[in-house]
Amino acid sequence: MDRHARIFVTGHRGMVGSAIVRRLQSGGYDNLVLRSRTELDLLDQRAVHAFLADQRPDYIFIAAAKVGGIQANDQYRADFLYQNLAIQNNLIHGAHLAGVQRLMFLGSSCIYPRDCPQPIKEEYLLTGPLEATNEPYAIAKIAGVKLCESYQRQYGRQYVSVMPTNLYGPNDNYDLANSHVLPALLRKAHEAKARGDAEYVVWGSGTPRREFLYVDDLADACVFLMERGYDGALLNLGTGQDVTIRELAEAVMDVVGFRGRIVYDHSKPDGTPRKLLDVSRMAALGWRARTGLREGIAQAYASAPFRQDNSPVQREGTA
Ligand SMILES: NC(=O)c1ccc[n+]([C@@H]2O[C@H](COP(=O)([O-])OP(=O)(O)OC[C@H]3O[C@@H](n4cnc5c(N)ncnc54)[C@H](OP(=O)(O)O)[C@@H]3O)[C@@H](O)[C@H]2O)c1
Repeated sequence: MDRHARIFVTGHRGMVGSAIVRRLQSGGYDNLVLRSRTELDLLDQRAVHAFLADQRPDYIFIAAAKVGGIQANDQYRADFLYQNLAIQNNLIHGAHLAGVQRLMFLGSSCIYPRDCPQPIKEEYLLTGPLEATNEPYAIAKIAGVKLCESYQRQYGRQYVSVMPTNLYGPNDNYDLANSHVLPALLRKAHEAKARGDAEYVVWGSGTPRREFLYVDDLADACVFLMERGYDGALLNLGTGQDVTIRELAEAVMDVVGFRGRIVYDHSKPDGTPRKLLDVSRMAALGWRARTGLREGIAQAYASAPFRQDNSPVQREGTA
């Protein structure tokens, strides 16, 4: 990519979009196009098409989406389906009309069938039923993948979809009502320490295995792919390694410096026993994640908005 190319990053205030912006800026890209929701509502088809026709970006990263935890996905099913379909349709079709040749669509590993074999390969898409709670969100994302693939096949556009595993890092959502497991654990451990609690409660049995990718590594992978070009439709992005929730909770405790003990609340659901992406396609292209889990947790904690007291971050493992 030319360092002066016009690069439109949508959702640039979100966790993923802001990481892509950081990565582009540190790579010397100096012509970024950024618009907040009040400046450009991506649900407004006419406004989006007019904006793209006027700005004619060379590259687009679609990191804007309606995103939330399991509860929000289940409760606001119509909003998740409609808004995600509308945002991606407006951007992908608008990009095509404006002659944009290269675009990257951010999906999520929840598009894969609920019970598919592990680790999850790209070709498992559409081979079985989806997890019911986030089915509307997953259906929207699958439609986005197919839209990109179809513009690729019908019009020769380089519109590529990437499927990241669980992400964490700066600008994550720490609202306990709808946050993901890692930010929720960080906040709970921090608050348990601040209150001087003897215990810190973790939902479920601690045995499920999950994979976590630091968001700056994800951004690095996205820019790597955009720079290099990729003529496939879909790529998994992850570390290729998983940990148990117990190991995750212990790493979080260590970073926060909470010295109490972990209690597992077995009345809360565990979810699927294992979720790990097969990242061999991305590895074959020459990319791999660099940030270790403990190091990433320490960086996320250092930037967490709830740490107003600036309590120390344990950067070296004590375990
Ligand atoms: N977080 C994860 O663990 C994870 C994992 C895998 C994949 N992903 C994917 O990565 C992408 C980004 O996720 P994220 O975690 O960065 O979400 P996020 O922090 O909620 O960011 C989403 C961004 O989209 C913007 N947006 C939503 N609706 C909009 C609209 N109508 N007009 C303009 N902007 C709009 C939001 O703007 P406001 O700031 O105004 O709300 C926000 O900046 C999603 O496609 C998600 O599926 C995330």
